[in-house]
Amino acid sequence: MDRMYRLTRHVYDATRKPYLLGRDRMIAGLAVPPGGSVLEMGCGTGRNLVAAGGRHPGARLYGFDISSEMLKSARHNVEKSGLDIRLAEGDACVFDPEAAFGVTRFDCVYFSYTLSMIPDWTAALAHGLSLLKVGGRLSVVDFGFCEGLGTPVRGLLHGWLALFHVTPRADLEAEMARLANASGRSLHFERPARDYAQLGSIF
Ligand SMILES: C[S@@+](CC[C@H](N)C(=O)[O-])C[C@H]1O[C@@H](n2cnc3c(N)ncnc32)[C@H](O)[C@@H]1O
Repeated sequence: MDRMYRLTRHVYDATRKPYLLGRDRMIAGLAVPPGGSVLEMGCGTGRNLVAAGGRHPGARLYGFDISSEMLKSARHNVEKSGLDIRLAEGDACVFDPEAAFGVTRFDCVYFSYTLSMIPDWTAALAHGLSLLKVGGRLSVVDFGFCEGLGTPVRGLLHGWLALFHVTPRADLEAEMARLANASGRSLHFERPARDYAQLGSIF
């Protein structure tokens, strides 16, 4: 991961803005209670956490990433924002927030274009759910299957994403439905922009 992001982290936010669709919509829908806590699993440059701080004033914000290179950008962006956002290095499948932040459970946990890069993404998703407080919300935004865009567009996009080790998760909705059922929660799932993106929340 560090090899991939060592150079690209410097242009990451500018170059990803046009095609990581749905991130701000997901952040707007976090429904953070007053003074509530928010954890981003795989926070990259910290761009989403800074946006969440603007959108949900008073929220306590936490993020971690497996790439120490991405975290250099995140620390820079957080410092520039003036927000109190806590960051750590870790793997989404096993991250221990108590060791990193002294916090065990969060009101909101989210993954933004991260599950498509994690080989054992179902383990990461289940781990994210386990970090929620009772009544909390787990949100995911990621690449969809582009069913509404036609086979040639889908082939081109998925071929290009594969160069960056990104695999859209065909079973994301089914897996989130399974976890919601198993934990007695509800699922809301959408496929905006003709299934370019997938946007789901367990609550
Ligand atoms: C496409 S970037 C998205 C960054 C950010 N979430 C956003 O929406 O801008 C994917 C991020 O996931 C991180 N990542 C990949 N595998 C991870 C893992 N197992 N645990 C934590 N972070 C991971 C990468 O280092 C990278 O920063």
